[in-house]
Formats: sequence, structure tokens, C-alpha cells
Amino acid sequence: MTDPTPHTARSVSPATERDHGLRPNTVAVTAGRPRHVPDQPLNTPITMASTYVAAGDLEYGRYGNPTWDAFEEALGALEGGRALTFGSGMAAASLLLDLVGDGGTVIAPRHAYQGSLVALGDAEMRGRLRSTLVDISDTDAVIAAMTEDEDTALLWIESPTNPALEVADIPRLAAAARELGVRVVVDNTFATPLLQKPLELGADIVLHSATKYIAGHSDVLLGALVTDDDEIYGALKARRDMVGNSAGPFEVWLALRGLRTLPVRLERAQQNAQELARRLADHPAIEEVRYPGMGAILAPVLASADHADLLVRSTALWVHATSLGGVESTFERRRRWKTEASTIPEGLVRMSVGIEDVEDLWADLAQALDQLPR
Ligand SMILES: Cc1ncc(COP(=O)(O)O)c(C=O)c1O
Repeated sequence: MTDPTPHTARSVSPATERDHGLRPNTVAVTAGRPRHVPDQPLNTPITMASTYVAAGDLEYGRYGNPTWDAFEEALGALEGGRALTFGSGMAAASLLLDLVGDGGTVIAPRHAYQGSLVALGDAEMRGRLRSTLVDISDTDAVIAAMTEDEDTALLWIESPTNPALEVADIPRLAAAARELGVRVVVDNTFATPLLQKPLELGADIVLHSATKYIAGHSDVLLGALVTDDDEIYGALKARRDMVGNSAGPFEVWLALRGLRTLPVRLERAQQNAQELARRLADHPAIEEVRYPGMGAILAPVLASADHADLLVRSTALWVHATSLGGVESTFERRRRWKTEASTIPEGLVRMSVGIEDVEDLWADLAQALDQLPR
């Protein structure tokens, strides 16, 4: 892949030296912070700049920003690579698809985030790429799909998947892909680097909708790609510099502020989710509870679309809203979206469990579930 921009990529260290050896909960708080200098801000300020005084590393606002640097350093330190921010998760995903060579095949989970699948389908319709959709939890079938198609260029993993919550065997898939010369990206939005570090498991690139857990307050759109491969980093950065699907400094600053509390938010949300999964499984209105044992997304399946629609309209605390990963508990019936896969049950409700008191969350859910017709 060639560098289409005239300037040289800035060198960004994967983590500050002083973060070396610190545990993830500490890295989330400290990585990317400015050095301790008297009278200078403790935290990274928002730098609003479209251009910089020449001739240094930055030059122009599309190529870099000190607020981006701080966020990228923190996320990179957590994932074990070098991060790049984008205007949204889909901006990051689209850029990645753009880098797949013409006619290449992308193998992706049939139950991946529907926006990613729509982007993939769109590229296929235009004749740019081909796609093969697989059950990402069926490791042998995914390896067979990669092996049988010699044009396979990219294995797109999402684990757990959104919203089916299937889990991929990343180490086995990444090892097989490496042997075949296939690049691997893992959408790590649901797990976050605190629960799963795909680069350590053999992936080439990690994708985030930082809109979700990383920013964590349902008030910002942001995406990120992270890699520990210098060549891939250079290609991604060159492409971002050229197409300009980058994020505003204020959004990145908000996400960095959110990232600082990710460990405590996620720990509390996960505890709540585990308890709610247990209680939901015992409720007669619930046919099945999908929960992969980690994270804070649950997917109970109700008897019908009508039951699920009634549930999401009958709560006071739980908010009927799309998206996920905020401090507040939200839920929605996923098949209300026309683009959601038809293999997702009509009665599946994706729940993003927040950090409220679990007893209040359960009381609100239980009164709504108890109202459903039997
Ligand atoms: C797993 C996953 N990946 C990617 C995205 C896209 O991110 P964004 O909405 O920030 O563009 C989403 C959004 O819901 C998602 O859930």
C-alpha cells in the first residue's frame, strides 16, 4: 500500500515509558497524560487548530492533533498497539474496507453489527469486493471458508457479535489466517481491551466504536483502529490523512475523559449484567438469555416481536434507545431495524446494562415482564 500524502507520518509511541509495566486499570487513568510540569494542566487540553506553525511534525489539522495524540496513546497502551482515531466506528470500518484490494474477499460474521455488514454489502454491490458471511463461532467452518477462497484478503471478526453475542476463537482463527496470508481485524467494541486484547491473540488490527464503552456516556461519536504492525499503521494513517474522516478535538477529549473511568464503569456494568442474566433466565416470559459470560450486553429472547415491543415500552428506568455502552441502561428489539439479519429472532431484545443499582434495574424490568400476556 502506498502513502498518498506528501508529508511524513508522525511517530507516535505505543505507550509512554512511564506506563510500562502498569496494570490496565492504572494505564486507563495515566496513559497519554502530559508530563508533570508546574503550572501546566494535569490533563490534556482540547487543542482547536486547523493548522500549525510550520515546519514541524503536525503541519495541518487533518494530519494530527495533540488531543488525538493523548487519546491514541491511552487506547494504544490498553490494546498493545498504536491507535488512530476516526469520526465514528463506521468511518474506521469503511476506511479499512477501502484498503482491501479490488476483488478481494472479506469473510465476516453473519451476525456482525448490521452497519458493518451494510458497508460490506455496498462494496460488494459496486463490484469492489466479495464477501462470505459465516457463523464466527464455528471455527472449522470459518477456516474452511478462508482456505477454499484464494482471494480471501481480510477476516473480519466481531466477538462477541452484535447482537447475537456469539464468541469467536480468536487465537485459532488468527493463526490459520496468518498461515494463509489473510489479515485479521477484530471489532472489540463489546469486550473492550479490558476483557479481550485481540492483538495479543494474533489479530492484526482492532476496531472500536469508541462511541460505546470507551467514551461511555452516550454523548459522542468516535471510532478507532489499533495495530502493532508498522506497515499497517502507516497505510491506515496515510489513508486517514488523505480522506479526512477524522474526529473533532472536542469529541476525542470527551472520549479520553470517558476512557479514564472505563475500568470502574465496566466492572459495575458487568456485575449488573451477570445478575440480570441469572434473574431473567428464571422469568417465565423469557425463552432464552444470551450472555457470553463477559461484558455488559445481554440478549434475552421473548416469545414474539409483540412481547418484545411491549417490554421496551413498559419501563421507566430502562430507556428504549439504540446504541450501547453508556452509563445508563438502554434496550431495543433489534429486528425493528430492516437491515438486521433475518436469522436474529424477532423477539430478541439487546440490553446494554448500565451502572445503576441492580435492584432498581430488576424491579423496573420485572414489573414490565410481569405485565406481558402469557
Ligand atoms: C460492534 C459495533 N461496531 C461498530 C459500530 C459502528 O460504530 P459507530 O456507530 O461509532 O459508527 C457499532 C455501532 O453500533 C457497533 O455496535
